[in-house]
Amino acid sequence: MIVCSCNCLTEAQVRESCTRSEGAARSTFEVYKCLGCSPKCGTCARTIRKIMDETLGGAACNACPVATNSACGAAKIADALNAAIEPLPAGAALVPAE
Ligand code: FES
Repeated sequence: MIVCSCNCLTEAQVRESCTRSEGAARSTFEVYKCLGCSPKCGTCARTIRKIMDETLGGAACNACPVATNSACGAAKIADALNAAIEPLPAGAALVPAE
């Protein structure tokens, strides 16, 4: 199935690009690069990311050296959210009773 009509990329090609033994793609941009093209309209980016997530099952972040040193944007966002969210006191409701 074609997932990127601009570059005629198939789902199988995307899966293969992120499971290669060497130089495997770990971002959507790397998928395009691995397959010898570049994003054009960008409409396919979410679909490519979803295929990567399905294929790798979260392994992309675990294998990424940027994520492990906390320089990754996703890691920074997660840290900021964790710092901003205060746990609810025991027995508190999200919606106050009227
Ligand atoms: S559909 Fe993939 S770049 Fe346009």
